[in-house]
Amino acid sequence: MKLSRRTLFLTFSAAALRGQSGPPATPKRNMIVRSSRPEDYEMPLEGFEEWITPIERFYVRSHHYTPKVELSEWKLSISGEVAQPLTLTMADIKRFPRVELVGVMECAGNGRGLFEPPVPGVQWTYGSIGNARWAGVRLSDVLRKAGIRGAPLEVLCDGADVPVGTMPEFQRSIPFRKAMHPDTLLAYEMNGQTLPVSHGFPLRVIVPGWAGDSWTKWLARTEVRKEPFQGFFMQTAYRHPGKPVPPGMAVDPKLMKPVQNLGVKSVLAAPLDDAVLPKAPLRIAGAAWSGETPLASVQVSVDRGRTWHPGILGREQARYGWRLFHYNWTPRDTGHYVIMARAFDTLGRTQPFVQEWNPSGYLNNTVHQVAVEISDSPGPRAVPAGGSTGQMEKFKPPQSYRTACLACHQEDIIMQQRLTRVQWAADVDKMVRWGAKVNPKEREEIIEYLLRLYGPRPAN
Ligand code: HEC
Repeated sequence: MKLSRRTLFLTFSAAALRGQSGPPATPKRNMIVRSSRPEDYEMPLEGFEEWITPIERFYVRSHHYTPKVELSEWKLSISGEVAQPLTLTMADIKRFPRVELVGVMECAGNGRGLFEPPVPGVQWTYGSIGNARWAGVRLSDVLRKAGIRGAPLEVLCDGADVPVGTMPEFQRSIPFRKAMHPDTLLAYEMNGQTLPVSHGFPLRVIVPGWAGDSWTKWLARTEVRKEPFQGFFMQTAYRHPGKPVPPGMAVDPKLMKPVQNLGVKSVLAAPLDDAVLPKAPLRIAGAAWSGETPLASVQVSVDRGRTWHPGILGREQARYGWRLFHYNWTPRDTGHYVIMARAFDTLGRTQPFVQEWNPSGYLNNTVHQVAVEISDSPGPRAVPAGGSTGQMEKFKPPQSYRTACLACHQEDIIMQQRLTRVQWAADVDKMVRWGAKVNPKEREEIIEYLLRLYGPRPAN
């Protein structure tokens, strides 16, 4: 959203001075903090045991800092290929019929941290996903009120967040057909509460079955378009090759397609990886989902994928929601087991065992594997033999790293990466384009430092 930084800060401080009772803040509980600012919080695995993800445990993904929008000043504009451009207040929005739906929102990059070779970006493992009850109005009702002209191609959605430095704005467009789908909503409530700030207060787009990058937060502007939108987050980011490509290789941009529908996927919440458990009945549990196509079934294996057993699906279900499942297993013997789950949708599609690699680490839906030991002496796992107990060698960061790289975010978002020299150079250059101030000598020393500390994972 184009707003001068000054206007935004003034809006914040004015609201703070008046002590206004704004939208609910979102206290988060037991989240994995991937980046504290911008906010990137991941849900821990136990979250896959609840049908509705509580707000305090619902993941957060932000490209920019979180804006605090004041409702009295907020409006939604509808422009472009419409007969009558509109500017609506929240009271106007609430006059459209209210619609509720339960739906999964999953970050396109969920599972990025599991890609080999590693790719840059927030290193999510399993939990940049949640299943919530959304309430709001149909985007199609709002667009029809403005009167659609001709045969538009897409609808641009723009939030009130402001880019950091010279970073491109986060703006996404949705194909017109999906925008007009009766299940595509503008939500003002999440799990029965006013939409919290971190989740897009006062209004966010709900695009059921699609990855989270289309679910624009803090929505302030929609534009009905005849032409494809050319912004960075449509033409460069959130694209993946339409077919399998050699891991680690650059991909011709012409091959790249926008990330849209989610794949079929399941994640195990229990037991946890590396657990040492007694030889007693064990409940294997998790959640499964399949984008726009309904989920058909889930299977569980306890013998490294040789045989599969039907998982028992939970009673609670919704067209776009996830489905809980469990399987009761009584181990016949002690030993080391690998437990897996795989989901099927009604088109017969299932999850791969070996993920197709893509340069930005999107849409990972590999079969989740959990290794457990069934033991006569359950408890904490013994320390593996042969491990190093030596101190990590300490490298002093160059001064330029402190001043140039920790200006907009903390070290957390840097420390999780495992990149090659080429990848680090590309990421540092991207940061320079976004506003990091480094001269050529400093650029070299920063890349050298990052490579020594956060280089590629050593081969096993
Ligand atoms: C002008 C602000 C700014 C500066 C200065 C900056 N960064 Fe960033 N950086 C960002 C933002 C914003 C993100 C999060 C982007 C997102 O999530 O889309 C980010 C993300 C990252 C990531 C995650 C991977 C990725 O590409 O998203 C890494 C690694 C990183 N920065 C490293 C650095 C290093 C190294 C420097 C110093 C050379 C640096 N940053 C300086 C704004 C900055």
